[in-house]
Amino acid sequence: MKVLVIGTGAREHALCRSLSLDPDVSALHCAPGNAGIAEVAELHPVDALDGAAVTALAQRLGVDLVVVGPEAPLVAGVADAVRDAGIPVFGPSGEAAQLEGSKAFAKDVMAAAEVPTARSYVCTTPEEVAEALDAFGAPYVVKDDGLAAGKGVVVTSDLDEAKAHAAACERVVIEEFLDGPEVSLFAITDGDTVLPLQPAQDFKRALDGDEGPNTGGMGAYSPLPWADPKLVDEVLQTVLQPTVDEMRRRGTPFSGLLYAGLAITSRGVRVIEFNARFGDPETQVVLARLKTPLAGVLLAAASGNLEDLPPLRWSEDAAVTVVIASHNYPGTPRTGDPITGLDEVAAQDAPHAYVLHAGTKRDGDAVVSAGGRVLSVTASGKDLTEARERAYRAVTRIGLDGSQHRTDIAAKAASEAR
Ligand code: AMP
Ligand code: GLY
Repeated sequence: MKVLVIGTGAREHALCRSLSLDPDVSALHCAPGNAGIAEVAELHPVDALDGAAVTALAQRLGVDLVVVGPEAPLVAGVADAVRDAGIPVFGPSGEAAQLEGSKAFAKDVMAAAEVPTARSYVCTTPEEVAEALDAFGAPYVVKDDGLAAGKGVVVTSDLDEAKAHAAACERVVIEEFLDGPEVSLFAITDGDTVLPLQPAQDFKRALDGDEGPNTGGMGAYSPLPWADPKLVDEVLQTVLQPTVDEMRRRGTPFSGLLYAGLAITSRGVRVIEFNARFGDPETQVVLARLKTPLAGVLLAAASGNLEDLPPLRWSEDAAVTVVIASHNYPGTPRTGDPITGLDEVAAQDAPHAYVLHAGTKRDGDAVVSAGGRVLSVTASGKDLTEARERAYRAVTRIGLDGSQHRTDIAAKAASEAR
């Protein structure tokens, strides 16, 4: 099978790594990719938001499957263009990707499907905002309605800050605060059959102890030793399947990866958000544990044959990933700094630990930073403690001037599981 992956982050590197290890994959392409992906896939320049350009590339390469990684091309309808050309594509249509593209749309689908989520108001004027904030009280949760790379949400007890964020957005969703730990659960679906993956937890805040601003995600781990073993089944029954069924009922079936961001509250599981693609950095740890070769699973979803697929096989190992981010991330990051130590990790820590590239590019012989999140250092182990030790050992070998990373990824879960 020849596969083309669209995107450029650590998630795409994780997808490409798994696909490159799949004996069914005879050729692997990625566009536009990064310096790390170049080691496992052939890179091609493309405007990932241009459906015609992506389709032309897929046709020229003669691929059997296109996998669209990020949300922006999905919302822009890139999967529709590829599918219209008769090429199987893993990723929802532009209309179905509105589950991620519009928080208000997602709320509407959840209401129709009776999926448990935070109570919310959609507001467009300062008066509506003030009223909604008053109705729920602190802590306030204010969400930009549109795509914001995980950074459009402000959770604060400061009323002025909540109002200021709302004023900076055109349309906002204001909702009740959900307490309790967060879980990311991904499901692969062909629009009908829903196949949940293993749950993971993401660390969204920039600094240790969940301090600092929200980011795209600073690290992740899987499995969740503290979670109820029935969680996946419960979320399949109450969230994932009803949502997929509702999308099909609306005439906009959702196929691809449905990502449920969940809060495990004192009153039960609630959906915080949906995403229409693999999450980053959770994908890095979920795929580290998936034993079933990936290409066949993605192709089955893309071609509507998920029902016939044997159950997925999972490793008993735990996986941890630690994101190394640029100076000043999640603000405007500094880029162009050389990265050192990649060869040392490959020589000394493989195969248990490895570096997935997020924002990197080649500059002559050097690999340099090219984005906010630069690397995602991933490791497996017999438990979270061992996976953490391996990941952080590899992190210490990496040099990147001014970089930052959290030191507490999976720390609490590892110590509780002992
Ligand atoms: P989202 O982009 O919707 O995933 O929100 C980003 C982050 O903001 C989430 O991962 C949560 O940590 C936090 N958040 C979002 N909605 C809520 C809520 N209703 N209650 C508490 N925290 C929230
Ligand atoms: N890990 C958060 C996201 O992918 O949106």
